[in-house]
Amino acid sequence: MFGPSRYISWVRKFYGHVPYDLGTSGIPNVSWGEMSAGATLPPIDDTSGYGKLVAGIARHNDVPASEVIPALGTAQALHLAYTAVLSPGDEVLLEHPVYEPLVRIGEGVGAVIRTYERRADEGFRVDPERIAAQMTPRTRLIVVTNLHNPTGVRVPDETLRELAKIAEAHSAYLLVDEVYAPFDDLPEDGIFRRSARKLGPNVMAVSSLTKCYGLGTYRVGWMLAPEHLIAEAEATTIATVGHLPLSHAHLGVTALEAVGSLAKRAKALLVGKRELAEQWVSQFPRARWSAPKDGLFGLVTIDGADNLLPRIETNIREHGVLVGPGSFFGIPNGFRLSWATLPAEEFKKGLERLEPLVAG
Ligand SMILES: Cc1ncc(COP(=O)(O)O)c(C=O)c1O
Repeated sequence: MFGPSRYISWVRKFYGHVPYDLGTSGIPNVSWGEMSAGATLPPIDDTSGYGKLVAGIARHNDVPASEVIPALGTAQALHLAYTAVLSPGDEVLLEHPVYEPLVRIGEGVGAVIRTYERRADEGFRVDPERIAAQMTPRTRLIVVTNLHNPTGVRVPDETLRELAKIAEAHSAYLLVDEVYAPFDDLPEDGIFRRSARKLGPNVMAVSSLTKCYGLGTYRVGWMLAPEHLIAEAEATTIATVGHLPLSHAHLGVTALEAVGSLAKRAKALLVGKRELAEQWVSQFPRARWSAPKDGLFGLVTIDGADNLLPRIETNIREHGVLVGPGSFFGIPNGFRLSWATLPAEEFKKGLERLEPLVAG
């Protein structure tokens, strides 16, 4: 069974109710009118949408259509990826700190969870040797988020290639959750050419249009994988939902056509805010942060602090600032600080109101 993802349940209580949202991890939603430039959707009984969505995802990721399966966001794509590879009792190797649903999906499909450390004193990088040391004959899947949630740290392609080789030596797969990966160079021509799927025959990638492009509610996601795993994932889709909605396919086709302009929009919304976050953190002697080069969040940790969750909740009540408690990611003395949502001036005000949490 799937246990609750405590972070998601916690944060949903606050979305839309807190004046300074420094917790959300996606570009603010774009309106249908802005995205579609007034276009109308095809009739709902036009079944060509299914094939067009697969073709659109393949084009967007610069991979063959035979390696694509659409999903309801990265969330469902992760589920497809796990079920394509894992049987009960198999081991899945997850990073720590970790985005909680990666654990819950593994538990839910009966896998045994093992972890590898991404250490603060190493800049949260992925160490292939540490991963190699954790592999056992039951390990079927190594999972990495890129950019890393919650630190925003990027994993270089050379490291991903090394991980793929380690996996291959154990007849296992590497799964890269690349939902935040395009942030270093959001594609203004609408084509993301750097999918990890291209890094090795046993590399699977999951992603969506939710985080980088302001399409959180559209749930346009996918898994990219070798063809035989696409067939496995199709079996999961049939066994769980039968078929994804045709309305989803039509929305997805329209959304994929708009990615280039949405990339420009996202870049404009982010300008200068990462730097504001960095300057702000640097004022506090006990605060450290993960120093991501791009993206829309980083992890702040406070030396010597206990679990910050109660103080984060107090800060929400008293100062109206939401951040992502590190305790939900396995780092109780930290929080994820996001600059996705607010314009720069409002973001600065939010940072000021966050000071009691960091300085106190
Ligand atoms: C690492 C990671 N993967 C997947 C998801 C889910 O993304 P989606 O909205 O595309 O389902 C999130 C959401 O926060 C995430 O941080």
